[in-house]
Amino acid sequence: MTTTLPLLPGPPAHPFELPEAAREGLATTPFGLYVHVPFCATRCGYCDFNTYTSDELGPGANRAEYAGTAIAELRRAAGFLGPDLPTVSTVFVGGGTPTLLPAEDLAAVLAAVRELFPVAPGVEVTTEANPESVTPASLATLRAAGFTRLSLGMQSAAEHVLAVLDRRHTPGRAVQAAREAVAAGFEHVNLDLIYGTPGETDADWAASLDAVLAAPVDHVSAYALIVEDGTRLARRIARGELPMPDDDVLADRYVQADTVLRGAGFDWYEVSNWSRGDAARCRHNELYWTDANWWGVGPGAHSHVGGVRWWNVKHPAAYAQRLGAGDAPVADREVLEPADRALEAVMLGLRLRDGLPLSALSDAGRLRAADAVARGLLEPAAHRAGRAVLTDRGRLLADAVVRDLTD
Ligand SMILES: C[S@@+](CC[C@H](N)C(=O)[O-])C[C@H]1O[C@@H](n2cnc3c(N)ncnc32)[C@H](O)[C@@H]1O
Ligand code: SF4
Repeated sequence: MTTTLPLLPGPPAHPFELPEAAREGLATTPFGLYVHVPFCATRCGYCDFNTYTSDELGPGANRAEYAGTAIAELRRAAGFLGPDLPTVSTVFVGGGTPTLLPAEDLAAVLAAVRELFPVAPGVEVTTEANPESVTPASLATLRAAGFTRLSLGMQSAAEHVLAVLDRRHTPGRAVQAAREAVAAGFEHVNLDLIYGTPGETDADWAASLDAVLAAPVDHVSAYALIVEDGTRLARRIARGELPMPDDDVLADRYVQADTVLRGAGFDWYEVSNWSRGDAARCRHNELYWTDANWWGVGPGAHSHVGGVRWWNVKHPAAYAQRLGAGDAPVADREVLEPADRALEAVMLGLRLRDGLPLSALSDAGRLRAADAVARGLLEPAAHRAGRAVLTDRGRLLADAVVRDLTD
């Protein structure tokens, strides 16, 4: 159950006001900025993110103008959240392919953040990048501008897997780009992997993991391939051209990844994320998982402040047109009831290595947690200490455990 905030009359600077309680928490709750860049050179067949390959999206929404449009929303964000602005602890530029924009444009967005908001001294500033879309020169520009972390979409080291995924880079390029990032002075580098692609063998996956270990990275995200409705991949599977990823294979691949990564000094801190030590965790993603506050800039971007959620219009043209007209680009908003927030906290918290306090569960959830310990899905020692923490087996069945504990 959610309720909506009353709309303010007229075309206001923002179509609703934050309740006082949400506003008060801004000073004490970690705050991050997400900037969505909705462009890709080509669309990967599996991807349903809000991204466009055309550069003819309309005034303010073309690549050349996009940074200015995003900065207009940042300005609006500062106006709306002020006068007592929260300190920015993380910035995450994601996509799409942010690095399709000139590095100078991403630098300008970051400079605007610094101009408009107080920024924490140790701020984490990430950009996502496709391996073929960065060069030593562009990485040097990003690093000099203050980006501290690079997240590269590697997906696989096997050429035929990259082909099924419609990726544009060659097998070795992601590792090479990671080396270039370290040479440019990036503090943290992540590689994203996808497992379970049709045609991928155990040996292909082993080779991908080996390639990751050969790269100078301190973070790895490994995702099971999700067949999203409406994608080219889903149509190819429906036509029988490709098989559906097999659940048992996906489980095997996960175990293989965890074993190899652990053996090399990585540890999981969220079901799909591993880091070399706590300092290498992605603090921006942790902010999402721990019910903190963030403002999402860009078409389709979501924001959350103190239980109020809102999201922008999806198409870049409509987004730019709203901002150009001096209106907020918000499509809709909702206020989460305390029960919804509690439920979300369990759904996200249970996927974390730190788990969550048993007190966050309902009475029924606590009974099921005891049962989950007996079934080897939750750690007994953590349970005795009052927390719900997934075992290795529990991680394989994380979605089912979450459903069980929240029903
Ligand atoms: C949306 S992309 C943005 C970064 C960049 N454009 C790229 O592709 O490398 C972020 C990551 O989401 C993951 N991803 C996207 N769609 C997925 C899907 N259908 N199944 C599994 N992982 C997916 C990929 O690992 C990808 O690197
Ligand atoms: S490059 Fe990244 S964002 Fe773009 S279509 Fe491929 S997976 Fe999606």
